Amino acid sequence: MQVLTFKDYEELSANTAGFIADAIADNPSLTLCMASGSTPALTCDFLVKKLKDDKTDYSKFSFIGLDEWAGLPPTNTGSCHYFFKTKIFEPLKLRSSQYYLFNAQAANLQKECRAMDQLIIDKGGIDIMLVGIGMNGHIGFNEPGTSFTALSHVAELEEITKSVGQKYFDGPVELGKGITIGFGHLMNTKKVFLMANGSKKAEVIKKTIEGPVTESFPASIMQKHTDGFILIDEEAGSLLKDQ
Ligand code: F6R
Repeated sequence: MQVLTFKDYEELSANTAGFIADAIADNPSLTLCMASGSTPALTCDFLVKKLKDDKTDYSKFSFIGLDEWAGLPPTNTGSCHYFFKTKIFEPLKLRSSQYYLFNAQAANLQKECRAMDQLIIDKGGIDIMLVGIGMNGHIGFNEPGTSFTALSHVAELEEITKSVGQKYFDGPVELGKGITIGFGHLMNTKKVFLMANGSKKAEVIKKTIEGPVTESFPASIMQKHTDGFILIDEEAGSLLKDQ
């Protein structure tokens, strides 16, 4: 695992987008799996701009959404689906056969999970994952206590995840479960980028990098990934020993 620190959110986002855009230019048929949320929002904008400016062929890459709030329709403006539709799929005019997202309204969410596991196998694994980190150290909806070998699964969300998650919605929503790609897939992913910005993330970033590797603090799994990168701004890194 390597830690790369950038001056501020803008530099962090521009550089993260650069890593992904360059990877797509090098391997036009790669599979990218991404989290939604506040952290990667600006990265998406930079990524779209860079792929277009560089005239990169992005017609062959595959996109997989990391997770979704169980029960939400894709039209809900707070859903991960809506985020990707407006920030990636529409601006890049991706074909619908190019992207794969959990159907969080499926009657059988377990079946949805097995379909995602199979899709990842069929794609020959994920090349790049870009994830964020929650205030309890979660990645995707892999909440504290999730096995480091878990595949796609339905997760009971902690109170903090449900309360922080309200920020994505126009009004209060009842959030219960999440559906997510698990750590078994993260560990098999060729390259993983975990991004964080702002002083509110400083404590969880310190635990991720300097704390013990334990399933009770999910993001600590990054220490075990041989091609894992922690991409942060100075504020998120402000509690690290070496700052
Ligand atoms: C969302 C996701 C979550 C977020 C995390 C941080 O798709 O996977 O794990 O990455 O909750 O959220 P933000 O970036 O909004 O602080």
